[in-house]
Amino acid sequence: MSNTVVLGCMFGDEAKAKIVDVMAKDSDVVVRFQGGCNAGHTILLNGEKFIFHLVPSGIIYPDKICIMANGLVIDPYELVAEIENLKKRGINMDNRLFISDQAQVTLPLHHYLETMHEQSKNTISIGTTKKGIGPTYADKSARIGIRMPELFDKQILKKRIANIIHSKGNLLDKWEFRNNVDEVTSELLAVGKMLKPYITNTVYLLHNFLDQGKKLLFEGAQGALLDVDFGTYPYVTSSNTTVGGVCTGAGISPRRIDKVIGVMKSYFTRVGKGPFPTELKDEIGDFIRKRGNEYGSTTGRPRRCGWFDAVATRYTAMLNDIDFIALTLLDVLSGLDEVKICTSYKLNGDEIDYFPSFYHQLEQVKPDYIELPGWKEDISAVRKFEDLPENAKKYVNTIEELLGIGVSIISVGPERADTIMR
Ligand code: IMP
Repeated sequence: MSNTVVLGCMFGDEAKAKIVDVMAKDSDVVVRFQGGCNAGHTILLNGEKFIFHLVPSGIIYPDKICIMANGLVIDPYELVAEIENLKKRGINMDNRLFISDQAQVTLPLHHYLETMHEQSKNTISIGTTKKGIGPTYADKSARIGIRMPELFDKQILKKRIANIIHSKGNLLDKWEFRNNVDEVTSELLAVGKMLKPYITNTVYLLHNFLDQGKKLLFEGAQGALLDVDFGTYPYVTSSNTTVGGVCTGAGISPRRIDKVIGVMKSYFTRVGKGPFPTELKDEIGDFIRKRGNEYGSTTGRPRRCGWFDAVATRYTAMLNDIDFIALTLLDVLSGLDEVKICTSYKLNGDEIDYFPSFYHQLEQVKPDYIELPGWKEDISAVRKFEDLPENAKKYVNTIEELLGIGVSIISVGPERADTIMR
């Protein structure tokens, strides 16, 4: 077993970075394959907090190679800032950070277009991170997007930016740089120059690593319920956050994937708009938000909190064909008298055990719950499953039974060591 994928199985923010950090120890190469700086992967290392938006979190290990593959949308300004910040904190990236020459560039005009769409009274707001993700992927599909190496050539870049502006019709009429393509081009050329040493053909690089028998770890961003095809469309992100995204986003065959780890929080959260059947708009929701510090690491927005939803996670576990579950933030639930798990939904009075694909139906479902006794003990120092309180063990075992999948990793705190391996 060498090549492992770590994927979020909820609405994102499942603490995937913590699991990637634990798994990276035994890997050689860490790969990001979709999304952009909408992600905020947080790692706490010896009390020091790192938040990664674009750079794979494996960079925190001095001997790991990190790849930002073709499936990413990269805001070059954000990336330069992130690299500079990490360098200041003593992380060396020379010859170990590689950026795909096929990755797409998020431009300032993408931010503008998204903000206009989100703010307009005449459009449906998704509650995005406003990082230009949707417009960048839209331009990629429309074949007007810009790829990283185009940032190196003034004539090409200017022509390509003019092409996008022209394609947008009057949507950019009020954009402050509308008539200043020269300035936009010069600034982009300057950041392009800074990123040039890292840009390469990562498809060949990855396949060379595969031939050498190196162990690859694929770091998913967002979660399966935000997948552009399988999530709660249109309240989703614009990439494939499920396992297929690894193949298209990095240029590898499914045959190269040996193991898929599904990361699930011990409760549900969602940030942004869209259906959320088990949402708790009460003091228990507030309790979870406070104890779990459930505020977006990219936008700072309070996350919506709710009970664990076994209908939704059965669906995402099926989509990703996960080998085992990494259950995170179990410590957050300590202190509740009772904990609930959603086992099925009622739709128009009829019980259903599937996750509806139409968001309007999902807004109408009523969850059925099983109730389990809670536990009061602080479990953050527990390192063996047997040492967990009986009710916490019962909670974990119930999730396993409801999903028919084992929980092999339990996270009880933010540090690498705050982990139970089974
Ligand atoms: P976008 O990815 O910025 O276009 O946002 C689309 C939806 O995905 C919004 O509901 C966001 O709040 C959500 N989203 C995007 N990235 C993340 C993430 O990393 N964690 C959680 N939610 C996210």
